Amino acid sequence: MKIERNKSLKKHNTFGIDVQATEFIKINSEQELTETLFTHKNRNIFILSGGSNMLLTQNLEALVLHIAIKGITTNIQSDSSVLVSANAGENWHDFVQYCINNNFGGLENLSLIPGYVGSAPIQNIGAYGVELKDSFVSCEAIQLTSGIKKHFTKEECNFGYRNSIFKNELKGKYIITKVTFRLTIKDHTLNTSYGAIENALKEKNIISPTIKDISEAVIAIRKSKLPDPKEIGNSGSFFKNPVISSEKFDKLQELHPGIPFYQIDKDNTKIPAGWLIEQSGFKGKRWGDAGVHAKQALVLVNYNNASGQEILELSKKIQKTIKEKFDIVLETEVNII
Ligand code: EPU
Repeated sequence: MKIERNKSLKKHNTFGIDVQATEFIKINSEQELTETLFTHKNRNIFILSGGSNMLLTQNLEALVLHIAIKGITTNIQSDSSVLVSANAGENWHDFVQYCINNNFGGLENLSLIPGYVGSAPIQNIGAYGVELKDSFVSCEAIQLTSGIKKHFTKEECNFGYRNSIFKNELKGKYIITKVTFRLTIKDHTLNTSYGAIENALKEKNIISPTIKDISEAVIAIRKSKLPDPKEIGNSGSFFKNPVISSEKFDKLQELHPGIPFYQIDKDNTKIPAGWLIEQSGFKGKRWGDAGVHAKQALVLVNYNNASGQEILELSKKIQKTIKEKFDIVLETEVNII
């Protein structure tokens, strides 16, 4: 396998941050992965897949393994469901389109999310009322230190809102190589409850939507709000939507009657961080090449040559302001490296 030295990672992270990796290897198969782990035992290894959920703030003094293992397999289970397995290096959106083209239902609301299949379980990607965990069955992952493969059930992954065991106890310990989903092949359970999807379907006079109709609606909504990383560097939502006590929320609502919210249970309420950031005057603002997207304040952007440090400073400024103004702590959704 070819080792590239002092490799620029600009094209390997959707924020488009120009830092270098000391060494970089593209991994095309599971065998290449285990061989590389064996050959480079005790090295500082950094796993890079689509680079769509990270902010690189410094050069990586590490051996970077870019997981590009491709391949999709299907296994019909009954007349109504199919198990679909995708290798980690498949582009997520292309995989979703593959499912839609084969009339496999379940992932259509997750259309156009940047990144690769292998990193999707790490943060339990979600959008428009659906999360990866809703159709996830299991994944395979290789332990970095031993090169041994482990099968993880859904329960073992311990999924939560933008969270899993791979972001906590097992952070940096396993490399996900394959993910399996159970999808429907008829009588799809459609999730059109999200207001923007309902409106998009109504506008097109679609009464009985197909999974393709939903995917197209989601794509249109995302395109209207979220910047395309190919044009403007970004990592989607930079922060998680904070969950606060309903008691605290009631006080906030008195001051701001129009505040949007999602009631989680009787004690907890989730508030869109985008709203908090917009209320604090950051939406559409720009400092050098670092900025806050004009159509969705939860998305920080690199207009061209911002450094990771500049984006990080902006994010800290936002966190400080939200803490002062609303007494709410915003946690980053993106991994800061
Ligand atoms: N809002 C504002 N101003 C803004 C942005 C949002 O006031 O600039 C308010 C609006 O009232 C809107 C509400 O926030 O009704 C929710 O906004 P939106 O529907 O855009 O969703 P979000 O909560 O900001 C979350 C996910 C997105 C996902 C969308 C749709 C997180 C951190 N983000 O965003 O996921 O696409 O819902 O389901 O949960 C991502 O994780 O990278 C991502 C893009």
